[in-house]
Amino acid sequence: MQEQLSDRINNLATSQTLAMAAKARELKAEGKDIIGLSLGEPDFNTPDFIKEAAIQAINDNYNSYTPVDGYVELKDAIINKFKRDNDLTYDRSQIVVSTGAKQSLANAAMVILNPGDEVILPCPYWVSYAEIVKLAEGVPVEVPTTVDTDFKMTPEQLEAAITPKTKMIWYSSPCNPSGMVYSKEELRALADVLVKYPNIIVVSDEIYEHINFVGDHASMAQFEDMYDRVITVNGVSKAFAMTGWRIGYIGAPAWIARACNKMQGQITSGANCIAQRAVITALEAPVSKIDYMVDTFKKRRKLIIDLLNEIEGFKTTEPEGAFYVFPNVSYFFGKTIKGHKIENATDFSLFLLEEALVATVTGDAFGNPDCIRISYAASEAQIEEALKRIKKVLAEA
Ligand SMILES: Cc1ncc(COP(=O)(O)O)c(C=O)c1O
Repeated sequence: MQEQLSDRINNLATSQTLAMAAKARELKAEGKDIIGLSLGEPDFNTPDFIKEAAIQAINDNYNSYTPVDGYVELKDAIINKFKRDNDLTYDRSQIVVSTGAKQSLANAAMVILNPGDEVILPCPYWVSYAEIVKLAEGVPVEVPTTVDTDFKMTPEQLEAAITPKTKMIWYSSPCNPSGMVYSKEELRALADVLVKYPNIIVVSDEIYEHINFVGDHASMAQFEDMYDRVITVNGVSKAFAMTGWRIGYIGAPAWIARACNKMQGQITSGANCIAQRAVITALEAPVSKIDYMVDTFKKRRKLIIDLLNEIEGFKTTEPEGAFYVFPNVSYFFGKTIKGHKIENATDFSLFLLEEALVATVTGDAFGNPDCIRISYAASEAQIEEALKRIKKVLAEA
């Protein structure tokens, strides 16, 4: 039979982080010693106290469908977490638990956007934002930022991007891929623009909240004049090393939460029961329980930046959170190295994979074609070896 796929799927880009990981796996299968610095996944195991809660949940026979928007006990743990960590007050009607923050984001797009509605995406943005927006028939509007401005969108840029069709703005802070963190003052300056446009809804993706090396985490919903139109997205994948457990959640105005509940009621019937029980334990624990992971990321950040600074041609900021560096590599464009003509960041990332056997991700995937993303969710030994190899192959540039 002839393939008859929808335009929707045919027009959807393949995730370039996953594509890079697949290519790296292919080379590994050929026997090549690839160092993977492409994936956005902590290289720690889920902490034992969370695993034990999951085992307990299995033994306690948590095996039925859960409420579509999450167990009440989990919603209460999320409400307490929002209060404790973010000084945000939500009630149960404002919380929806989903199958990863990715589904929280997909819900937000599906319930808010009509065809042609514009969504402002400060670049670089997380790889899936633009594709999720397009799936919901929205139009991504990219606002470029550069390494020279720490990858932060200014209030002037925000205002210039707003049109009568603007329905939403989505950003992550700490940011994947740049590691940038908006301070409270910077968020306030963006909010000062947004208060002039009361119909624009904000998606504040705070999944890297705890992996923050500069101190205070600020949330857009903390501003009273913004609270009513912010969807605060969070989850346990990154801070608790629980990527495969697939639990994310939102705090939002009740009318948006109701709509997300309705949406996932027809699509997933709610998130996995065992994972939800385990996440209650994760969120009720003091945040200090995960300090060892954050401290390790901080050490690795220093290591990778020091090593990158030794190589001519990488221009990087000091990331303030998450576990990525996002250097500008345009210095290499137009050069031919070891027979590879480097025209752009995608060529450069492929060159590093093929010649240095190090997997990174092209900045193109994040709306910034001059950069590459390097994840330092890898051991110090792997980071040292990877940078040694990169330095060696670039010595011929
Ligand atoms: C900025 C950002 N938001 C959301 C997600 C999705 O997280 P989850 O694993 O909870 O779906 C990721 C994962 O890489 C991310 O980097």
